[in-house]
Amino acid sequence: MKKRIFSGIRPTGPLHIGNYLGAIKNWLQLQNEYDSVFCIVDLHALTTPNASKGLKKKVFDLATTYLAAGLNPKKCILFVQSQVPEHTELTWLLNTVTPIAELERMTQFKDKAKEHRSNVNMGLFDYPVLMAADILIYQTDLVPVGEDQRQHVEMARTIARKFNQTYGATFKVPEVLIREQGAKILALDNPLKKMSKSSPNLYSRINLTDSPDEIQEKIKRAITDSGKEITYNPQKPALANLITIYSAFSKLSASQIEKKYQGKGYAQFKTDLANVIIKALKPFQAKKKALEQEPEQVKKILEQSAKQAQAIARKNLKEAKQKMGLI
Ligand code: TYM
Repeated sequence: MKKRIFSGIRPTGPLHIGNYLGAIKNWLQLQNEYDSVFCIVDLHALTTPNASKGLKKKVFDLATTYLAAGLNPKKCILFVQSQVPEHTELTWLLNTVTPIAELERMTQFKDKAKEHRSNVNMGLFDYPVLMAADILIYQTDLVPVGEDQRQHVEMARTIARKFNQTYGATFKVPEVLIREQGAKILALDNPLKKMSKSSPNLYSRINLTDSPDEIQEKIKRAITDSGKEITYNPQKPALANLITIYSAFSKLSASQIEKKYQGKGYAQFKTDLANVIIKALKPFQAKKKALEQEPEQVKKILEQSAKQAQAIARKNLKEAKQKMGLI
């Protein structure tokens, strides 16, 4: 039997190249080898302020993004979290074995709580338990994500172990799958931060739907480190980040890029980098536009996938409930 992977993204606005390189790009290969389940996690999105504004459109937008990037509904299940209510039911059950102290340690919770102090809701705190339910309800083997989600997957492992210890072997303990390249794409305006959907500075990220002019402008404005040489050096994180992006969108390794730009300046490097990104995103953007004209087809895919997902989720939820002594 094939091993199963599960992953998801929040529909909170356009995806950036960090989401693509850290997550989706890896999923494209994995869907050929694994029993694959990919989710649009709309319930997680609701934990951030104003998320419900235009949510339907954001969900549709993420679905077309998944499909245009190359997720193939013949090879994977691709569905919306709230359409499979078993996730939320399992969340409650898992809540009863989750130590609060562990949730208090979550860096994403601490960061988000700081970011919007006036909206530190219970959902934000319980976010990792819903994420654990997403993963465990499919008896997932591997969770392909970017570096920032490592701690949450670790939490899902803790919860699975806790449940199994308390009620007997029920859930697989999932492993995190983080590829070295692209696992943490940094903000273009600040190499101390990751590229993020929520940064107020639009020049901090490149969205997958950005126009060629926007991409050129954003790369031009991207901060670089002191010095003239185009060399990959983690001590120079801004330049290392740009080289990583270049390499991920082309077939060139970091050392081939260094060679190519020996004796050439930042200006040439940046113009070429922007062109590499523009070229790589072009087919995706065309496909996404075409899919946007076919909302019924997209809806049908999501509905069929939800049914497939629900069949698996229902069975595993039932087992967990039986183990817990529920009728
Ligand atoms: P989200 O929506 O914040 O991010 C989606 C994916 O993009 C990755 N990512 C990045 N990778 C590299 N560089 C970056 N700058 C960057 N920013 C984001 C994230 O690591 C993630 O893989 N909690 C999850 C969604 C979720 C989930 C799940 C994931 C809900 N349930 C179950 C896996 C399994 C999240 O907020 O992702």
